Amino acid sequence: MKVLEMKGLTKKFGDFIAVDNVTLTVAEGEIFGFLGPNGAGKSTSIHMISGLLRSTFGQINILGKDIVKHRKFAKMNIGIVPQDLAIYEDLTVYENVKFFAGLYGLRGSRLKEQVAEALEFVGLSDKHNSYPINFSGGMKRRLNIACAIAHRPKLLIMDEPTVGIDPQTRNYILDSIKKLNKMGSTIIYTSHYMEEVEEICTRIAIVDHGKVIVEGTKEQLQAVVTDKKDIWIEVKSNKNIRAQEIEKIKGVESIQIDERVIKIHSDMDINNLNQIIQYFLSNEIEIRSVEEKSSNLENVFLTLTGRNLRD
Ligand SMILES: Nc1ncnc2c1ncn2[C@@H]1O[C@H](COP(=O)(O)OP(=O)(O)OP(=O)(O)O)[C@@H](O)[C@H]1O
Ligand SMILES: [Mg+2]
Repeated sequence: MKVLEMKGLTKKFGDFIAVDNVTLTVAEGEIFGFLGPNGAGKSTSIHMISGLLRSTFGQINILGKDIVKHRKFAKMNIGIVPQDLAIYEDLTVYENVKFFAGLYGLRGSRLKEQVAEALEFVGLSDKHNSYPINFSGGMKRRLNIACAIAHRPKLLIMDEPTVGIDPQTRNYILDSIKKLNKMGSTIIYTSHYMEEVEEICTRIAIVDHGKVIVEGTKEQLQAVVTDKKDIWIEVKSNKNIRAQEIEKIKGVESIQIDERVIKIHSDMDINNLNQIIQYFLSNEIEIRSVEEKSSNLENVFLTLTGRNLRD
């Protein structure tokens, strides 16, 4: 069953095209990754799916029904975890979740029951009567998720739910997503962290400048760049490294210096490892380790756009 269909979805702000003719289908049971750099049009697409923004062109169907013609049906079947936290600080934790679940159409004893269940799910059961004003970023995020799942939507859309939170909460959230998916929710997961998308998503669309540039399973996407490899060289200090000099070595396409790990993106078919190591030795740069990695989604993006996913 198709949970979500976007057909030729387009959003213009004046002359600027933020979402450009996007056609995508998400089937039941998927964790669909929407991966793209800042400004790619991810949140704008989500705002159109949730009915917050009107599309300029195109159509969106939820469970086969047009969201414009079936607004209430769409609302009841979608849960949105927005990128910018939407929480009322003058309402208690319980009241916050109850408020949003009410907006999504939940009433009566089911409302009470499912609000309690959602709070239990995100680990905030003992905080029912607290006000979120002094909550940590991670706790607010978890509350935000509870607000989106209490009405048990068929489709849960999460817009960068792990930005700015500690690693422990991040893992908690990623595990929760897997659990919700096992319990029957279809999930759209938006991020510009390719590691997260690689970890949890069953299918991925990479977007840039409002357009889908590639779509498929992780393996299908990686197949786009099988002729590339990454050499990671850990050094004692990156002080004497001149990226331009390494880029001159045959086959080397780009270099990223992350603290003490030098990541060299190179052509798979050219055996240039000796020359690369020679560069480090002749410049008296102490090597701690050398690793060769197969391609990842970062490379897919780099290959298709010529840029890094994160600047
Ligand atoms: N209301 C608006 N008016 C004008 N331009 C807008 C508006 N909303 C978004 N944009 C522009 O549309 C583009 C896409 O923005 P959007 O927020 O959808 O990107 P994103 O992929 O969610 O990025 P991020 O990773 O930073 O959240 C950006 O260039 C943004 O400046
Ligand atoms: Mg966004």
